[in-house]
Amino acid sequence: MLPPDVAAGARLAHVGIAVRDLEEAVAFYRDVLGLVPHPPQVADGATIVGLSLGESAIELLTAADQQSPIGKFLARHGPGIHHLCFRVPDLGAALARCRAAGYRLIDTEPRRGADGCRIAFLHPKSTAGILLELTD
Ligand code: CO
Repeated sequence: MLPPDVAAGARLAHVGIAVRDLEEAVAFYRDVLGLVPHPPQVADGATIVGLSLGESAIELLTAADQQSPIGKFLARHGPGIHHLCFRVPDLGAALARCRAAGYRLIDTEPRRGADGCRIAFLHPKSTAGILLELTD
């Protein structure tokens, strides 16, 4: 769990789901749930399609490059939930608190992710086996 002061004001930004076939995966969210897919974009060797879901979103990710983190995840685990992303009021402050509390950071500083958002990942080893992404 994140320290309480990090979690205060936090929201679920998106759920990242690793898929082998984007078109096939998009069909459920578009045709059954009626969500509108955003145009695909590439970040970190992943092709990503976002679908807004209220104040949160679904992020479907597939490997644009087999050696990318998402390519390796798919090879190791197959399709499934890949990460959760929480929106926090201040990403730099949240990372500083995570560091002070001993959470293992994949990104020690905020960097640019899909849509140009500032993001940073926490290692699943320190977050109950779930890859966590923070954004602001
Ligand atoms: Co994400």
